[in-house]
Amino acid sequence: MIQTKGLTKYYGDLAALVDLDLTINAGDIFGFIGPNGAGKTTTMRILATLLEPSRGSAFIDGLDVTKKGKQVRRRVGYMPDFIGVYDDLKVFEYLEFFAAAFDIERKKRKGIVDGVLELTDLQSKRGTTVDSLSRGMQQRLSLARVLIHDPKVLILDEPASGLDPRARIEIRELLRELKRMGKTIMISSHILSELEEISDHVGIIEHGRLVFSGTLEEIRCRLGIQSKVRVCVADQDHQDRALELLSALPQINDVEIADEHIAVTFNDGQNGDGIIARTLVQGNIDIISLVPEQIKLDDAFLQLTKGIVH
Ligand SMILES: Nc1ncnc2c1ncn2[C@@H]1O[C@H](COP(=O)(O)OP(=O)(O)OP(=O)(O)O)[C@@H](O)[C@H]1O
Ligand SMILES: [Mg+2]
Repeated sequence: MIQTKGLTKYYGDLAALVDLDLTINAGDIFGFIGPNGAGKTTTMRILATLLEPSRGSAFIDGLDVTKKGKQVRRRVGYMPDFIGVYDDLKVFEYLEFFAAAFDIERKKRKGIVDGVLELTDLQSKRGTTVDSLSRGMQQRLSLARVLIHDPKVLILDEPASGLDPRARIEIRELLRELKRMGKTIMISSHILSELEEISDHVGIIEHGRLVFSGTLEEIRCRLGIQSKVRVCVADQDHQDRALELLSALPQINDVEIADEHIAVTFNDGQNGDGIIARTLVQGNIDIISLVPEQIKLDDAFLQLTKGIVH
């Protein structure tokens, strides 16, 4: 649904984006991750037809963004990192303005505006002026705005920045809902753990270059991040026996007793709590809990970008 080939952007002498090749499948949530100045906004603005690339090409739904601008804009909802706020404009007026800009028939506008207000849980703010909304509500309004013309593709530049934890969770829920509606979503952030739960794929960008693109599982394999599981057994006296049984498994790299639980580390690329459960049950050891430790994107990100020199 979204593709870039050798996408490059110079601002004067500064190479903000260098030979970016990205493919984002229809219906996926793609997390675009990178530190300040990495080139995220530049990429998104090119995809949204707001910026010309210096070299390379980009396609939305098979349409070249530099040649089919109008058709691309019909398919894309772009939420910029900063919202232009109009004084004295009420929430519904703001949305109706954009509905008009997208040539939505006058008689259909109210229904559509009500629909996006409901989706973003802003009905109660319908008559409030935009500049008096809190930051979180403005972010939601901005999201409501990009949904007005029912685009297939959403390009959201840091939609969760400046939000409190509760509002972040709400945005995440909303993105899941939009995915269920069949949208393809590209979302940027520096807050890596925020995208970990919702992204099907992630792309990590630094100094305008894609450092990694793939699933979290692929990050794990590429980095050889070892999967870890914490096991609690019912009877403390069984811990030594459990250690012995698990140590004998070829998939497992290390087993140690740490206070109340047993910490199991798999070999590179291996994981799974099933094998642990089977082994212990067959050894007549009752298990209270088996908790896999999630790899954190933050750790992965630090490892992937470590030592990269511009
Ligand atoms: N209009 C511009 N003129 C000159 N340089 C620019 C312009 N816009 C961006 N840049 C530069 O291009 C590089 C990439 O910027 P970009 O805004 O794409 O990064 P970003 O990943 O979105 O960063 P942030 O996380 O801070 O939003 C930076 O070095 C930035 O200073
Ligand atoms: Mg940016």
